[in-house]
Amino acid sequence: MTDADLKRIVSHSQTRNQQDGVTGFLYYSGGTFLQILEGEEAVVRATFARIQDDFRHTIASVLVEGPAEERLFSDWSMEVANPKKTSAIMHAFFQSDRDLDLTKLDDEKALLLLDAFSLTNKALLL
Ligand SMILES: Cc1cc2nc3c(=O)[nH]c(=O)nc-3n(C[C@H](O)[C@H](O)[C@H](O)COP(=O)(O)O)c2cc1C
Repeated sequence: MTDADLKRIVSHSQTRNQQDGVTGFLYYSGGTFLQILEGEEAVVRATFARIQDDFRHTIASVLVEGPAEERLFSDWSMEVANPKKTSAIMHAFFQSDRDLDLTKLDDEKALLLLDAFSLTNKALLL
């Protein structure tokens, strides 16, 4: 994935998600995506079903799902983080300088990480 590839995915996602009332955030590192989709349940499930079928990734699994009192990313129909700008957050989070392995995230850590991202601002975007 190049930055241009990511921007293409996000640009298309923004258009679709705006129509669908879906918000969220996308992080990409070391060949793995971490994404949060927020919205009305049926719409979020339909969006995820389309993503599952997308050839640009292989395995898509759900780390955590369920009702939420409020959206973490209510202002973003979809945005992607710039890994260079988020590296401090990620290193603090994983307490390691080695390549970060998103596949090792459990549901609790994934939510904490997304919460940390949501508290930051657009300075972290690609
Ligand atoms: C990592 C990743 C994240 C994506 N996120 C979204 C998303 O948030 N919303 C969306 O509609 N499509 C998203 N897509 C694109 C979908 O997989 C699919 O290509 C698209 O929804 C098809 O839309 P269309 O029917 O308008 O062509 C994502 C794709 C990838 C690879």
